[in-house]
Amino acid sequence: MAKKTVKDVDVAGKRVLVRVDFNVPLKEGRVTDDSRIRASLPTIQYLREQGCRVILMSHLGRPKGGPDPAFTLDPVAMRLGQLLEIPVRKVSALTGPGVEAAAAEMGAGDVLLLENSRFDPRETKNDPALVADLARLGDMYVNDAFSAAHRAHATTAGLAAVLPSAAGFQMEKEVAALDGLLREPKHPFVVVLGGAKVTDKIKVIDRFLDLADQILIGGAMAFTFLKAQGLSVGASKVEEEGLEVALQALDKAAESSCRLVLPTDVVAADDFAETAATRVVAAGEVPEEWMGLDIGPETAVAYAQAIGGAAEVFWNGPMGVFEMAPFAAGTLAVAEAMAACAGVTVVGGGDSVAAVNKFGVADKMDHVSMGGGASLEYIEGADLPGVVALPDKDQA
Ligand code: 3PG
Repeated sequence: MAKKTVKDVDVAGKRVLVRVDFNVPLKEGRVTDDSRIRASLPTIQYLREQGCRVILMSHLGRPKGGPDPAFTLDPVAMRLGQLLEIPVRKVSALTGPGVEAAAAEMGAGDVLLLENSRFDPRETKNDPALVADLARLGDMYVNDAFSAAHRAHATTAGLAAVLPSAAGFQMEKEVAALDGLLREPKHPFVVVLGGAKVTDKIKVIDRFLDLADQILIGGAMAFTFLKAQGLSVGASKVEEEGLEVALQALDKAAESSCRLVLPTDVVAADDFAETAATRVVAAGEVPEEWMGLDIGPETAVAYAQAIGGAAEVFWNGPMGVFEMAPFAAGTLAVAEAMAACAGVTVVGGGDSVAAVNKFGVADKMDHVSMGGGASLEYIEGADLPGVVALPDKDQA
């Protein structure tokens, strides 16, 4: 990676402000998926081993510019303490005298978690006054939150301008994995894309049409492509504004050396429900009032074969409504094919990560990205403010 990491700077004994992404799902005050917390552990542990005082900052959800108990980081502090097997102190503010006192009381190796950064309306404005208040707490700044790096906020970008800074290990891994795909993909390079909207993914499709050998399309997005070609999709979810975009992508694909592959069969249902009647139909022949909710078995086999023969695979977006058992087979087939693939496998995006976790194959992937929006923007070629703000390795 071209950015300085915690290994490139002298952190020993320092007070280190670390931006992590603890934007995790909660239910009844408990963390239901701790992947992002686990992803931050190597950096936190490394800093503790170096005798640092580790002050963690994160956002959670999108509170409306003020404190909101529904978005407190209290449940995260509890889970983090369990994972680190040490008491993690949590303060109920981001800045102020109470926070400064708590920071001053820390000893070497201690971990302090500040309250949800978005409870302070200055966070999303990257307000210099907030940056200055936070900077007083630390000697240096580490950004380990790749998944929030597409935001130019005080804790994701602002602090890097005023404190000596470096990337954490998760940030380093995320950028290295995506750079590997984008700069020197190994061929055959297969991309699997699902999800609801073509317009959300079109820039990613464009980029991969230049890089990949095949792009396999699944999820609701497939029906926009099929309808754009004049095929019958019944009551399947179609993005009307995406039809033209889908046609343009198909035209571009026809002129490129990359194949844009659509499902040949789908699992159709008479209702959006686990108990719905289902049948497998040809992709362009979904009966009226029925909706396609998964790729069909023929498509699943074809996609699995393409993945099996790939030297590099990137997957973002489920193939169907995998949360409901009758529509999970397509996503399971992709997850299993990736797990068995001998090539480099990278999974990104909240839903696909949830799928590999659900199917128990996350540890078979070469890289599981914690970044949804951030990964996609990076692939599109955008400069992520949180990455750009960090100093380059060769910078003095
Ligand atoms: C995410 O979950 O993608 C990141 O934590 C960013 O969250 P945001 O979209 O609310 O900025």
